[in-house]
Amino acid sequence: MVTDPVIDQNRLPHHIAIIMDGNGRWAVKRNRPRLFGHKAGADSVRVIVESSLELGIKILTLYAFSSENWNRPQQEVSGLMGILKTYLAAELSQMQKNGIRLLCTGDISQLPDGPRDALEKAIEATADNTKFTLNLALSYGARDEITRAAKLLARRCVDGDLTPDQISPEHIEESLYTAGLPDPDLLIRTGGEARLSNFLLWQASYSEIYFTDIMWPDFRREQYIQAIIDYQKRERRFGKTSAQITAN
Ligand code: IPE
Ligand code: IPE
Ligand code: MG
Repeated sequence: MVTDPVIDQNRLPHHIAIIMDGNGRWAVKRNRPRLFGHKAGADSVRVIVESSLELGIKILTLYAFSSENWNRPQQEVSGLMGILKTYLAAELSQMQKNGIRLLCTGDISQLPDGPRDALEKAIEATADNTKFTLNLALSYGARDEITRAAKLLARRCVDGDLTPDQISPEHIEESLYTAGLPDPDLLIRTGGEARLSNFLLWQASYSEIYFTDIMWPDFRREQYIQAIIDYQKRERRFGKTSAQITAN
């Protein structure tokens, strides 16, 4: 009998963020169109959401579409938007059944009407669920997000609600798309690249980062557990010395 490697229940990452990369290359290697890879990637999303629930993870943020991804060929962009709409329609009842609250991080005003309506409907319908939070980063870019936060705070200063000297990291946090969500403990990137691609530049300041060569469509429960076990071997020092951490 094959048993899973053991996850330490006392050291579970509370919030995991994933850069789901490698769908296109996965498909091209199989002589299939890139959209075939994106569809297989949607199956990985289902598996990883289910696994997160089962393993006791509380928040999962998935980088599904970046602000830069709008620059891809029109056909690929509309294919991805179609997959998003289909995914939301197919998963809404499961989300309700499993107590999943759906959130979105990003500029969704840019999405076409169909997927945006489906997204808004699912966010509203699941707003009171408390077991698990699925946060989709869509049309998301960290530089846009931080610029937007700067504008919101500048506006508050102009309105007399705040002075420039009062601005603190907490003010910036509450002006980001992710306001109210704790920072990710673990950030995973599949697909072999070792970069952040404009993802959660503020929030990931102290995240443990796990890069893997596995392409997103091949990233399933077993690979996810490996990433969590790797995370559990790390010592999170937050600037302190190792002795200070072990003394606590
Ligand atoms: C990630 O896979 C999915 C999105 C960016 C939407 P890619 O489409 O970037 O796949 P590769 O990196 O080209 O293999
Ligand atoms: C990052 O992947 C964005 C998502 C996974 C949604 P990209 O494939 O767009 O990143 P780059 O272009 O290789 O940096
Ligand atoms: Mg890519």
